[in-house]
Amino acid sequence: MSKLSLGVDIAGIKMRNPVMTASGTFGYGLEYSNLINIEDFGAIVTKTITLEPRIGNPQPRIVEVTGGMLNSIGLQNPGAKVFIEEKLPKLKEYGVPIIANISGSKKAEFVKLADLLSNIGLSGLELNISCPNVEHAGLFAQDADTTYKLVRKVRKATNLPLIVKLTPNVTDVTLIAGAAEDAGADAVSLINTLIGMSIDIQTKKPKLANVIGGLSGPAVKPIALRMVYEVSKKVRIPVIGMGGIMSSDDAIEFLLAGASAVAIGTANFVNPNTCCEIIEGIKTYMGNNKFNKISDIVGRVNVKKLEKLIYARSITYV
Ligand SMILES: Cc1cc2nc3c(=O)[nH]c(=O)nc-3n(C[C@H](O)[C@H](O)[C@H](O)COP(=O)(O)O)c2cc1C
Repeated sequence: MSKLSLGVDIAGIKMRNPVMTASGTFGYGLEYSNLINIEDFGAIVTKTITLEPRIGNPQPRIVEVTGGMLNSIGLQNPGAKVFIEEKLPKLKEYGVPIIANISGSKKAEFVKLADLLSNIGLSGLELNISCPNVEHAGLFAQDADTTYKLVRKVRKATNLPLIVKLTPNVTDVTLIAGAAEDAGADAVSLINTLIGMSIDIQTKKPKLANVIGGLSGPAVKPIALRMVYEVSKKVRIPVIGMGGIMSSDDAIEFLLAGASAVAIGTANFVNPNTCCEIIEGIKTYMGNNKFNKISDIVGRVNVKKLEKLIYARSITYV
C-alpha cells in the first residue's frame, strides 16, 4: 500500500492537501457546489469580508488582458453579519477548513472583525492588507512598521491561525513579511495582484471605470514565484504561494520555491475544476518522483549554481 500523503498543517490548519482557493475568485463556493467536488479541496478562502456591506467599485471592473486579467472589484461583499448568518453555515457543510479573508479601512475595523469571527467555527483568518482597489487596505502592507502595528493588534484580538496576505507592489516584500512574522502572524500568503492599467484606443478611455486595477493570472507567475522564494528564505512561518497558478506544474514550482501550500485564483474563472485537477497532478508528480509527503517537495529548488551565476553577473555590471 502506498504511503503517499498530501496532507499539510499550515499554522495549525489541518488540510487534506496543500491546494486552496484564492480570495475573491471562488465566490463563497456555493455557486459551484453541483459542478465540482469542493469537499476535496485543502481549504476554502472566502472573498474579503468587511464589517459593513460594500457595493464595490463602478463597472466595468473586470477586463481581460494579455496573460491574465485586471480587476477593480473594490471588495464588494455582503458584510460580516450576512457572512456569519447565511454564507458560513453552508460553507461548513463541505467539511473543509474555511479561512475568512478580512479587510478594513482602519486598524480598529480589522480588530473588531477578527474578534467577531473568532469563535464561530472558522479554521483561520487571512488579513487582506494588500488590496490595490480600495484606498486604505492596500496601504497597510506597503510599509513594514504599519504592517507590524496592524498585525500586532489583530493578533491580540484572536486565537485563530492568522495569515497575512502581502502585496507585490513594494520594493522589498521580505521586509513586510518579516514585520508580519515579528508581530505574531502564523503564516504569510502572497501575492495579491499587481497594479495595472488598460486603455481602449478607440474611445481613448481606460477600460476599467476605476482607471487602474489588479493584474492576476499567468502573466504574474514569475514575479509571484520569485517573491515566494525570497520570502520563504526570510521567514520561519509557512508561506502560502499564489499568483498565476494554472496547472499542477505551476503549483509544484511554488512548492519547490518554498511555499507550504498554494492558492488558485484566476484559473477558477477559466476552469472551476482547476483545484481538483491540480491536486491530482501533484499526487502524480509525487508518485513519479518518489515523494511521500508534501514537505519532501517544499523548498527543494536547487539554486546553488544559480546563485553563483547571479553573483558573477552583478560583478560584471559594476
Ligand atoms: C476578480 C478577483 C477578485 C479578487 N478579490 C480578492 C479579495 O477580495 N481579497 C483578496 O485578498 N484578494 C483578492 N483577489 C486576489 C487573489 O486572491 C490573488 O491573490 C491574485 O489574483 C493572484 O492569484 P491568481 O493570479 O491565481 O489570480 C482577487 C483577484 C481577482 C482576479
